[in-house]
Amino acid sequence: MDTVLLCRLDAMPDGGACVADAGLANDVVVVRRGQQAWAYLNRCPHFSVCLDYEPGDVVTYDGQVLMCAHHGALFRFEDGHCIEGPCAGAALTPVAIRIVDGEVRHSSP
Ligand code: FES
Repeated sequence: MDTVLLCRLDAMPDGGACVADAGLANDVVVVRRGQQAWAYLNRCPHFSVCLDYEPGDVVTYDGQVLMCAHHGALFRFEDGHCIEGPCAGAALTPVAIRIVDGEVRHSSP
């Protein structure tokens, strides 16, 4: 199975995020909590625009949620569900990843 390196787990702060190119239609946002990570397309379900303030600059809170730069929607790390904001109840599009030897990799199906 082909995999694409997104980032190293230890290159992200615990509770933080990174943005990577996985060769998909949009960049991918990877969020980290401890030794776990989740990844989503960098596209807000509210207006289909990217989530970061500046390229690569994604705001997170308490290792729990990431916030869209545009209207402040909050998305849970673990399932991308929007818990607050103008698109509450919607969700980010998940991207399949695996963590192998400290590397977060996208694995195409
Ligand atoms: S575009 Fe993300 S909250 Fe509006």
